[in-house]
Amino acid sequence: RGMRRCEASLASDYTKASEVADLDWENLGFGIVQTDSMYIAKCGQDGKFSDGELVPFGPIALNPSSGVLNYGQGLFEGLKAYRKTDDSILLFRPEENALRMRTGAERMCMPAPTVEQFVDAVKQTVLANKRWVPPTGKGSLYIRPLLMGSGAVLGLAPAPEYTFIIFVSPVGNYFKEGLAPINLIVEDRFHRATPGGTGSVKTIGNYASVLMAQKIAKEKGYSDVLYLDAVHKKYLEEVSSCNIFVVKGNVISTPAVRGTILPGITRKSIIDVALSKDFQVEERLVSVDELLEADEVFCTGTAVVVSPVGSITYQGKRIEYAGNRGVGVVSRQLYTSLTSLQMGQAEDWLGWT
Ligand code: COI
Repeated sequence: RGMRRCEASLASDYTKASEVADLDWENLGFGIVQTDSMYIAKCGQDGKFSDGELVPFGPIALNPSSGVLNYGQGLFEGLKAYRKTDDSILLFRPEENALRMRTGAERMCMPAPTVEQFVDAVKQTVLANKRWVPPTGKGSLYIRPLLMGSGAVLGLAPAPEYTFIIFVSPVGNYFKEGLAPINLIVEDRFHRATPGGTGSVKTIGNYASVLMAQKIAKEKGYSDVLYLDAVHKKYLEEVSSCNIFVVKGNVISTPAVRGTILPGITRKSIIDVALSKDFQVEERLVSVDELLEADEVFCTGTAVVVSPVGSITYQGKRIEYAGNRGVGVVSRQLYTSLTSLQMGQAEDWLGWT
């Protein structure tokens, strides 16, 4: 019996909990594996979440008229747990995810769990699924909190009831390239976000809307899409599922968070790590033309960690970095520094784990 995973919407089965021993830790990839338990809490008209409970991982019942199914009133988060060599388990900055969910909930007219409730729920869920945290160095347990309008509506309005769920899945590398550089294409027809929209919060619709451009890019052999701003069509925004950084000498630049870009927790952490290593970091408008002059480009995100970019194609012209053969020295240095903290291999002088 091989491992069975549900990676795409067309797949219909999951790895069963009893098959943990069969998991191929070397080749996890980024797909859903059925683990033991998930956390669930509800919030009614009083705006307060019930004490949540752990229930077996599985389908949930939703009213067909729920706010999330009809009007996309939903948010998600992503964070990871790592197993240390002494078998203890580390979470990376879970309070940041809790705060981001609260900011997003405000934008989406939803109540949200407190930071304390959120972090406690994450800990409960990880502990209940402890056996699914990959061995040290083989990956991590990806934690997916969801907040949704589960109450029934028909006219457009905030839902009368909300559900907070956390499920987990052991994961390896996000991109099929693994740690090898990815190849991006700049998209100048479709845009991910507009000023005044919801680009800076982790609402579910932001991710559905990038699927088409991503599909077209993948069909042409690219790993993913790099978006430009919708107004000038010349400033970098982000990749479908991660933030972007451009390196030139000692200066590392990344698009400023101005309402259309997700304030990534890995983005923020990499900025602090880079500053601590005496790089100059600039959060500003980064023009697409700067890609031509850059020494290195890399992406950051919880799922992708730090992913070096080997090439970017813009208006038919392919720009290559590090000859597309290797990982740039700055990307490698920042990747190593960040992951050593996340995995508990370096002293946590920033108090992040
Ligand atoms: C993450 O990096 O955790 C995300 O939420 C991106 C997602 C598309 C996998």
